[in-house]
Amino acid sequence: MPVTAEPHELLESDFLSEVHSFDFWLQAVEGYLLDSEHGRDPELTEEPMEESQREALISTLCNYCIGETAALEASSGMIGYAPSMPIKIFLSTQVVDEGRHLEVFLHRLRELGVQDPATAIMQRANPSLLKFKEQLLEYVDSRDWEAAVFAQNIILESLEFTVFGAHAETADPITKQVLLGVIKDERRHMGFGENDLGRRLALTPHLRPRLGRIKHEMDMLVMETFAGTLRDTGVAPDEQARFTSNYLATVARLGVDL
Ligand SMILES: [Fe+2]
Ligand SMILES: [Fe+2]
Repeated sequence: MPVTAEPHELLESDFLSEVHSFDFWLQAVEGYLLDSEHGRDPELTEEPMEESQREALISTLCNYCIGETAALEASSGMIGYAPSMPIKIFLSTQVVDEGRHLEVFLHRLRELGVQDPATAIMQRANPSLLKFKEQLLEYVDSRDWEAAVFAQNIILESLEFTVFGAHAETADPITKQVLLGVIKDERRHMGFGENDLGRRLALTPHLRPRLGRIKHEMDMLVMETFAGTLRDTGVAPDEQARFTSNYLATVARLGVDL
């Protein structure tokens, strides 16, 4: 099937093979990664930054690295029991994306003067985010496909999508450009989760209360992570409420308003 065909004209199985393919992925990423270095225009120069801003940015980026490591480990672990070959292929594109996200955030940390990012990440980790990661990897390790897709491709991706978007509004030009590229990938990962779980929920109605329980278990961790990260990014308190409701609306829009 040529990758230039209109997706809505394809049969469902052909559609899924196409949108989960490396061709589709390459077409998507080359628009914003071609000629970039470390996820941004190499000509961009650093703007002066107050020490307190730099410190807050380092803490934020350290926590982004935890989120990206969680997604990298989860998406790679899910390939082993993914329910179809197109899904295994899609997840392999996600693994590449998550590895890239981790790499560009680590690079940004080094640019900001962090010589040992691994130590800084553990020192500045948000405990709720660490617990979230542990819970996600438990779902993945137990080979629970629906729980893993929901926790990663709906909850974690919606969280990252919202936080990165909020941060991009106030970030320095280099961090902003890195974030805008990452957000485009996260949108694709959310689309996969929405599509996969949407079809499963239509076929298996009793899945809905189970996902509701998982959401309930993870909500507190998500909200605590949210509060800490938005505070570090310099988002004003009233704006924090706006972004939190954006997150809830995103999860609801994905068809899992539980
Ligand atoms: Fe990511
Ligand atoms: Fe992602």
